[in-house]
Amino acid sequence: MGKEIELLNDNMKSAINDQINAELYSAYLYLSMAAYFENINFPGMATWMKAQAQEEVGHAMKFYGYVFDRDAKVELKAIDGPKTEWGSPLEVFQEAYEHEKKVTGLIHKLVDLANDEKDHATRSFLNWYVDEQVEEEASTKEIVDRLETVGDSKPGLFMLDRELGGRGTGGGE
Ligand code: FEO
Repeated sequence: MGKEIELLNDNMKSAINDQINAELYSAYLYLSMAAYFENINFPGMATWMKAQAQEEVGHAMKFYGYVFDRDAKVELKAIDGPKTEWGSPLEVFQEAYEHEKKVTGLIHKLVDLANDEKDHATRSFLNWYVDEQVEEEASTKEIVDRLETVGDSKPGLFMLDRELGGRGTGGGE
């Protein structure tokens, strides 16, 4: 297939390419959080974050495939370095929750752009992400709430760590 006629206009294409970068940055951030958890001996939370990182790569690849489906060009940009240190598991998950809210905002901006551009195909494609962000926010918020309940209790933290380690690395929900 030739790339002479792109089915995405320049604004939409550029915004989706930026979103590919944002999803890959999310993967990088969660992998950095996983590394932090490995270092402080919470292997279950590390497993959860690694699964989350894989899921973010999946989000990026779904956009990547869509750009090609529309006969447009993927343009990868540099990924910022994430931070590497946090003060506590609670701080990590609070930041993950804040990050997901930010990503939700980015997805909603893409939806607004698709509406402005009358790009119905992209608008429809984005519905999956709108729904996914509801889950992404809910799952991180739930862990924040539980960590707040557990507080400094070591047995509570280790139980939660074990439970979160039950999340497969195959990119669960
Ligand atoms: Fe790709 Fe967690 O949003």
